[in-house]
Amino acid sequence: MAEITGIRKTLEKHGQGHLLRFYDELSDRQRGVLLEQLAAIDFARMDDIVARYVRQVPGWNLQGRLEPPAIVPGKPATPAAQAEHKAARAKGAELLAAGKVAAFVVAGGEGTRLGYEGPKGCLEATPVTHKPLFRVLAEQILAASRRYGVAIPWYVMTSQGNDVATRAFFRQHRYFGLDADDVLFLVQGTMPAIGFDGKLLLADKGSLALSPDGHGGCLSALRRSGALDDMARRGIDLISYFQVDNPLVHCIDPLFLGLHALREAEMSAKGLPKRDPMERVGNFCVLDGKVTVIEYSDMPADLATATPEDGRLRFAFGSIAIHVLSRSFVDRLTSGEGPPLPYHRADKPVPCIDEHGKPVKPDTPNAVKLEMFVFDALPLATGTVILGIDRREEFSPIKNAAGPDSLSSSLHDQVRRAAAWLEQAGVSVPRDADGQVAAAIEISALFAESAEDLKAKIDPAKFTLVGGQNLYLGD
Ligand code: UTP
Repeated sequence: MAEITGIRKTLEKHGQGHLLRFYDELSDRQRGVLLEQLAAIDFARMDDIVARYVRQVPGWNLQGRLEPPAIVPGKPATPAAQAEHKAARAKGAELLAAGKVAAFVVAGGEGTRLGYEGPKGCLEATPVTHKPLFRVLAEQILAASRRYGVAIPWYVMTSQGNDVATRAFFRQHRYFGLDADDVLFLVQGTMPAIGFDGKLLLADKGSLALSPDGHGGCLSALRRSGALDDMARRGIDLISYFQVDNPLVHCIDPLFLGLHALREAEMSAKGLPKRDPMERVGNFCVLDGKVTVIEYSDMPADLATATPEDGRLRFAFGSIAIHVLSRSFVDRLTSGEGPPLPYHRADKPVPCIDEHGKPVKPDTPNAVKLEMFVFDALPLATGTVILGIDRREEFSPIKNAAGPDSLSSSLHDQVRRAAAWLEQAGVSVPRDADGQVAAAIEISALFAESAEDLKAKIDPAKFTLVGGQNLYLGD
């Protein structure tokens, strides 16, 4: 009783008294849920957040302060660059073999654009055997573990909404061949939806309208969950970070890890040439001397399309959310109070209840959702390597239900990459009149991790591939 009086007072002081409007109607269990949600919120900090992100629309003042960043080319042209790549590959392999590297996937997103029921990692996403995304990633980690003769722990970030289903999926599939002790789950934080008047929204009478706090929430989640401590106990120095929805990702890349280590970076990133100047990816820039990713929506069109004398885009490289983070960097960023990164605001229609307790399903935005983005940690790092990569080799995400960046475009790109690997190994691949691959081809990482690996494994003379064939190269 005394407890609820205290909570009521706190809420009223911060203009959020409405959150207990239906408290008396709730069962004991419902009350427990609501009180737990409220206890997780620091309302003084929430006042600050409302002032900074809801009462005003935060913006950038970029004009004149931006420069393009240095990119390490994926295909080195000069002898010095070639030597650095060779040394980096060796360094990455050494760190892997010494058990210094962990894999980290962020899989807490809601996947609203795709509209898939359940965690996105369960989506069947390969062209021949229809493996779920989680298996595609797991097989790469298993292949790298075998190659380097070491366990590579895999940290999987889920959200409150998909944690139970994700863990059950891994159990059901026996961790895809990985040792269950080396697959570790952590749940990301949530953020309440905030009405334009600064008041938090109720989803129903006994709970707030909450959503995951963005992939940038992974930094605090790593600390809060104990995953950072676990990494320290295991002797992990580097975290290989990737998203759940890109089946072409190279989860464990010795070159990238080695460049990060040799250049003593704290957080590194892979980037690729934008498809067109306005492509909906973050732009790599240097802002006041710090490597920074500016979202496509925040990048003024004249800068996004700027082409100096040589005709090439000035800000040509987009961010694809593949990173190496030093564990010590995450430790440093998360050792203070509060979240380490700023929020990004999105105005969204959020289902909720009104002051009479009636459900509301708005068609237009009624609230602000706030998310942290992991790339905002880049300017806080003392060193960053941006490695330029080939889109066809490493990036074809599944974001949308149809069109670009959908399952069908990704299947097409997976087949195209597999065909390119086979051709590099000397195999003749059937193609149609438009030059498109005329077969379905899938190569598991357990068979070959790269084009070079495949070349070393197959004899093209003994290999025939005919039009319309379904070819799977697996374990
Ligand atoms: P996206 O930004 O594509 O978001 O996430 P999403 O939630 O998957 O999809 P939409 O925007 O609702 O359609 C990129 C990666 O970051 C993870 C996602 O799971 C995906 O791997 N993510 C995103 C999180 O882990 N947590 C979040 O809060 C947001």
